[in-house]
Amino acid sequence: MSKEIILSGIRPTGRLHIGNYLGALKNFVKLQNEYECYFFIADFHSLNEPFDPKNKYQQIINLTKDYLAAGLDPKKCTIFAQSQVPEHSELAIILSNVVPVSFLFRMTQYKDKSADRAAENVNSGLLFYPVLMAADILMYHPTRIPVGKDQTQHVELARDVARFFNGKFGPTFIEPQPLYTDSPNIMSIIAPEKKMAKSLGDNHCIYLDDEPETIKQKLAKAVTDTGDGKSLGAKNLLDLVKIFSQPSTHKKFIADQAAGNLKYSELKQTLAQDIADYFAEFRKRKKQISQKDAEKILAAGSKKAQKVAEKTMSAVRTRIGIR
Ligand code: TYM
Repeated sequence: MSKEIILSGIRPTGRLHIGNYLGALKNFVKLQNEYECYFFIADFHSLNEPFDPKNKYQQIINLTKDYLAAGLDPKKCTIFAQSQVPEHSELAIILSNVVPVSFLFRMTQYKDKSADRAAENVNSGLLFYPVLMAADILMYHPTRIPVGKDQTQHVELARDVARFFNGKFGPTFIEPQPLYTDSPNIMSIIAPEKKMAKSLGDNHCIYLDDEPETIKQKLAKAVTDTGDGKSLGAKNLLDLVKIFSQPSTHKKFIADQAAGNLKYSELKQTLAQDIADYFAEFRKRKKQISQKDAEKILAAGSKKAQKVAEKTMSAVRTRIGIR
């Protein structure tokens, strides 16, 4: 019996933070052992916000290195770049014809991001984004999409698109489900009511390749409370202790919290050390991966992905009657 198919992607916009890791990448590494997996660099998706073309290619290669350093193995999964498989753009254009524009205006991420930007920066790429994401997904017929909670609505739209297309042109696409980790919603360390996101600023995030001293300095500024551990900031830190520290350490801080004498300086120092240790191997491996190796892996994976994409597109072109 053939294996279930899994697909997901990350935008190359700079460095990965622990939200990206805990919500998505950590799960990718696990899933590659059990499923037929496609993990890609969503480079077209990273173009709707301001960027410097001088950096974009390196961001793509760096993210490829992140994938590899985190443990993705090109022998076990297909790692590719969206822009190296041009069929994604073709499918997005075709699918756009079954997506009512009102659905796109309803997307929370569109509403949030467009509210944060000056009107002239609200480009149509931002609005069209979920259609391209639906194309990324439906192209490979996956059943499950490992993502953080912030992507739920986009995966739901992909399901709608599959249903609308199938209804109009005949059964072609599978309706996939999102797949979450135990920590699909990591919050900012200094504004814990907001999701950890690079766009908030570096102080809000802990990056996977932050040096131990940087992690310490960032966590020292994390917001907490007076010791009862009831605030959002305290909850976020305790959640991170649960993930990155020993169970006995977590148990101790929970007991301190219950007694109302949780010492945040101690918690922050322990957590900083444990996060730094957790990613020590990652930092080491990332430095060892050469530019050439990352480029080769991406090119080979893209070629492999394109074969599948071409097959899907051939069926789609026939379905809609253009061939
Ligand atoms: P992106 O690049 O914003 O984020 C990559 C992954 O990280 C997850 N994530 C988080 N998880 C938990 N807590 C957080 N604070 C946090 N921040 C980010 C995201 O949910 C995501 O899983 N649209 C996607 C990229 C994409 C895609 C796709 C994903 C394009 N096409 C097809 C899946 C399938 C995005 O912008 O992710």
